[in-house]
Amino acid sequence: MGGRVWFIGAGPGSPDLLTVRGARLIGEADVVIWARSLVHGDVLEYASSRAEIVESTTIPLEGVRHLYERAVDEDLKVARVHSGDPSLYGAVMEQIELCEEIGLDWEIVPGVSSLGAAAAAIGRELTVPEISQSVILTRRASRTPMPEGEEISSFARHGTTMAIFLSAAKPRALQQELMEGGYAPETPCAVVYRASWPDEEVIECRLAELADRVREAGFTRQALILVGPGLGAGGTRSHLYSPEFSHMFRRAKPAEEGADAAT
Ligand SMILES: C[S@@+](CC[C@H](N)C(=O)[O-])C[C@H]1O[C@@H](n2cnc3c(N)ncnc32)[C@H](O)[C@@H]1O
Repeated sequence: MGGRVWFIGAGPGSPDLLTVRGARLIGEADVVIWARSLVHGDVLEYASSRAEIVESTTIPLEGVRHLYERAVDEDLKVARVHSGDPSLYGAVMEQIELCEEIGLDWEIVPGVSSLGAAAAAIGRELTVPEISQSVILTRRASRTPMPEGEEISSFARHGTTMAIFLSAAKPRALQQELMEGGYAPETPCAVVYRASWPDEEVIECRLAELADRVREAGFTRQALILVGPGLGAGGTRSHLYSPEFSHMFRRAKPAEEGADAAT
């Protein structure tokens, strides 16, 4: 008796953004559980021909429980494939608790989040020196309420880059909350729909136009919304590659060769 489940991040969509480790473990699994609505079907090409494939969209946690109990009894390897990275809105904790309860070993295999795929789609770094060195990952309340103090408007007060998941369905309320929190109407925004999928679409606009543009495009789900002054910034330079900046692997040039101030 034993078995093990791997919670594998399948990446944002494109099947070649699955990690090498994830692909190997899917190939070794006796049972592969995946969600058709969130994960590209081609990840199943890594599965062995003898593997049992289970589509999870329609099965609640109780159905999964049955599969995990079988894994314990029959010593099965289970690959549970999640979209993006399992650590973000992945509903992994309830499964881990279930595994602990029934004595099934488990392990998380990280994946490429839609956060990285969305930043790649707009061709931007999300942390821009001297403009924004922090990224807040959050969402609007829906059927899942937000804990107190985690409202969009309170995070907006920081004025840094925000990445907003699961929130395209009510863009007008989102825009209002972001502005109430203090972002200026001209703050740059990007909305990336289905990043890395063949039908990926990108909107780049000012915050004042966000709701109209999202409505016009008809995005209600599978869209990541990025907002913050860093998205429009240019002309800044990181210390890491600056000639005046020493670090573990490189000494700074003497002052006369570089610019005046090394900070
Ligand atoms: C349940 S969460 C899962 C997030 C996932 N664990 C991740 O790391 O990207 C689903 C939300 O993630 C975002 N998302 C997931 N895949 C996406 C993609 N390919 N393009 C844009 N946003 C995506 C959307 O905000 C969507 O509403």
